[in-house]
Amino acid sequence: MLKLCLLSGFCGSFLLGFASLGPASAQEQAGLVAEGARIAREACADCHNVSGGKSQAGAPDFAAVARMPSTTATSIRVFLKTPHGDMPDIILAEREIDALAAYILSLAGR
Ligand code: HEC
Repeated sequence: MLKLCLLSGFCGSFLLGFASLGPASAQEQAGLVAEGARIAREACADCHNVSGGKSQAGAPDFAAVARMPSTTATSIRVFLKTPHGDMPDIILAEREIDALAAYILSLAGR
């Protein structure tokens, strides 16, 4: 059963996803934050303030998003599963979503 499970891609990504719920080492976390910052500059900076620029009307500053009490890694992950605003069809991989969530949360020091 386990062997079957490991052979199927679906189950494999489930296991991987499950593993990523565990506590990340500080080094992994730093790597994710850096990757998230890079993706944000490429995919989000047209609208969101990423490096001191001005946000387009309606698009909140990521630091402000990070400071909202309702913001958690889960809320960011859920939000990024679907396009928002006039966000063009940016399809994000799970790993990119994790990286963006880590990056945004890091802006509020958490
Ligand atoms: C075309 C413009 C545009 C792009 C590109 C864009 N956003 Fe947004 N974003 C918005 C607007 C407008 C809002 C506010 C309205 C809303 O929440 O739908 C917003 C809101 C948000 C929020 C706030 C959610 C909340 O809880 O209020 C997050 C987080 C966010 N964007 C993340 C991202 C990330 C990460 C990217 C890059 C992958 C991105 N956005 C790309 C326009 C954009």
